[in-house]
Amino acid sequence: MTDERPIGVFDSGVGGLTVLRALRELLPGESTVYLGDTARVPYGTRSAATVEKYALNNARTLLQQADLKALVVACNTATAVALPALRAALRIPVVGVIEPGARAAMAECRGGTIVVLGTAGTVRSEAYPRALHALGHKGDVFARACPLLVPLVEEGWLSGDIPRLVVEEYLRGMPSDTDTVVMGCTHYPLLRPVLRAALPERVALVDGAAATATEVAGLLAERGLARAAPGPLHRLLVTDAPEQLARLSRTFLGVDVPAGDVELVDVLMTA
Ligand code: DGL
Repeated sequence: MTDERPIGVFDSGVGGLTVLRALRELLPGESTVYLGDTARVPYGTRSAATVEKYALNNARTLLQQADLKALVVACNTATAVALPALRAALRIPVVGVIEPGARAAMAECRGGTIVVLGTAGTVRSEAYPRALHALGHKGDVFARACPLLVPLVEEGWLSGDIPRLVVEEYLRGMPSDTDTVVMGCTHYPLLRPVLRAALPERVALVDGAAATATEVAGLLAERGLARAAPGPLHRLLVTDAPEQLARLSRTFLGVDVPAGDVELVDVLMTA
C-alpha cells in the first residue's frame, strides 16, 4: 500500500522551510506542497482572531491546490492560536509544531527554567507553558517575545553585528537557572549560530523541527498513509515575491530553487 498524496505545509513566510527541510530529510519518499503566506507575514504581531482566519485561508488554499493526506502547521504562532480551529474544519490529520517543540525541550531540560523565545502571539497564547507543564515540567517557564527576529530572517540577515546585538538584547535578564532555550518560532533556527554564541555553553538550544517530522512519520505509519515509491514531487507556493523564497532556498532548505520553480498563488479568502 502506498498513499501518493502530498503532505501540505504552511507558514507565514519562509521560516516554515526549516520544518519542511526536516520533513524531507526524515521522509525522503513523501511528496510535499509548501505554502508561505509571504504577502501577509508577519503573523506574530497580529491578533489571535486574524491569525486563525489566515491559517484557515492557507489550509483551504493548499487543499485547493492538492489532495493532501495531512497538514503540518509549520508556524508556532498559527499552531498556538489556530490548531483547534484547523482540526475542527479539516478532515485530514493536522500536526502543529508546539507540542513537538515542548517535547524537544523536555528531552534536554535538567529541571531548571525553560526559556521560550517566540513571537508576541505565541508568547501571549501561553501555549508553550501549557504544553511543557502537561508534559511534566516542574520548573519555571520564561517566555520572551522577539519581534525583530522574523524580519531579520525574512531579509536573510543572519550574521554580523545587527542580529548579534538584537539577540543579546532579547536574552538579557534570562533567569540564572535557565538550562534550556526553545526556539519557539520556525524562523529562529536560521539564527541558531547567533543565539548559540550569545548563550552560556551549559544552556541547551532546541527547536521542534525534527520532533515535528518524527510526529508526522509516526502518524503516517500508524494510519497507513505512508508513500513507498520513488520520485516524490515537491511544490513551493507563495502569496508574494517568489524570488525572495528562491533567494533564501539554499540557506533554509539546503537546495537551490530557481525563482521560476516557486509558484505565486492567491490565498483563498474564505475560511
Ligand atoms: N514562523 C512563525 C512562527 O513560528 C511566525 C513568524 C511570523 O510570521 O511572525 O511563529
